[in-house]
Amino acid sequence: MSDDFLLLNPGPVPLSEPVRAAMDAPMVSHRSAEFEATYERAQDGLDEIFTASTPSGESTGEGTSLILNGTATMGMEMAVSNLVDPDDEVVSLVNGKFGRRFARIAERYADVTRVEADWGDSLDVDAVAEAITDDTALVTLVHNETSTGLLNPVEAVGDLVAEHDALFVVDGVTSIGGDEFRIDDWNVDVAVTDGQKALAAPPGISAVFVTDRAAEQADGERGPFYSDVEWHLRKADQHQTPFTSAVPLFRSLAVAVEEIHDEGMPNRIERHRRQSEAFREGFAALGLEGFPEVSGPTELSNTLTAISLPEAIRGDESSAFFDAVKERNVSISGGQAHLGGDIFRVSNMGNLTADQIARGVRTVGEALGDVGVDCDPDAGEAAVHDVLDD
Ligand SMILES: Cc1ncc(COP(=O)(O)O)c(C=O)c1O
Repeated sequence: MSDDFLLLNPGPVPLSEPVRAAMDAPMVSHRSAEFEATYERAQDGLDEIFTASTPSGESTGEGTSLILNGTATMGMEMAVSNLVDPDDEVVSLVNGKFGRRFARIAERYADVTRVEADWGDSLDVDAVAEAITDDTALVTLVHNETSTGLLNPVEAVGDLVAEHDALFVVDGVTSIGGDEFRIDDWNVDVAVTDGQKALAAPPGISAVFVTDRAAEQADGERGPFYSDVEWHLRKADQHQTPFTSAVPLFRSLAVAVEEIHDEGMPNRIERHRRQSEAFREGFAALGLEGFPEVSGPTELSNTLTAISLPEAIRGDESSAFFDAVKERNVSISGGQAHLGGDIFRVSNMGNLTADQIARGVRTVGEALGDVGVDCDPDAGEAAVHDVLDD
């Protein structure tokens, strides 16, 4: 992989040199004091990120961050499975691939009602209000829907969940660490995030934040043996995991969250917002249209941008465009599932620079030119700098 490779996929994201180097230290036992110190550093950083991801840095919740040997899907399954019985009613909100995944997970453990919108459309909050009743035990929602680039209305849904005293499990996988997230204000009981996304740590490690209220209601024996929340909570008290920890990944995560602390969440949120705006403006200057249709309390994502491909290069024709991007040593993502060939997606999660954002937009412009779409890469690059250069 050459040094000028630019990874713009919505996870995994580029790693800083210290985060990479942390994986290279001599191995230690996961039951050693050295490892416990690493766990504690990572956990302290995560506690701050989960509870104080606000523009002014104020804290919005109390609970425990658990670090998991596995990607975010493990955290999603842990969150649901430990909190419901098979005859419990769960409401799952679905307007993209990850909302659908949450529903599929919940269907293995409970009786699920889905409230669906087309992928890329906003959820209808009135329909959500009708679906959540006093019989609802738990609601699942994805905050930042990575497959479509929109921010679902966690606060509005959280108010409905609280009215009916249900539990609220939120996937903040591509928002937490890069955007605002409020545990108590949004009535969230369990939040899930992932190392490889806005935390800018390697893939293979994730985290859940279990509020005290959720911890009281969790029954570890309902879920998979490996994901027993009560067991994880007991071991987390000793800064350990129940089973062998992925030591190099924990070390990297500890460095990554300390880098976030040094930047400060308020600054980081502001930077991500400006960088996503720069991507949007840059692509607009190339003549491209954003993909998601947002309405009501739904917003565009601040951590990734989804753009509709021009009609002429959709479907099978899109592969030449993606190849032309790749030839320039830049990696972007296409659409997932039925959106493949319709859209492309770029991330600004982690620690990208203004020049990297500008290069992403220029590269897309040049690749479009290669496949016969008329556009001006210089204008795209200039629009990025207009937003990012003070
Ligand atoms: C919003 C969201 N949730 C969950 C996941 C699941 O992550 P993984 O497939 O790595 O477990 C992803 C991954 O892209 C995601 O973007």
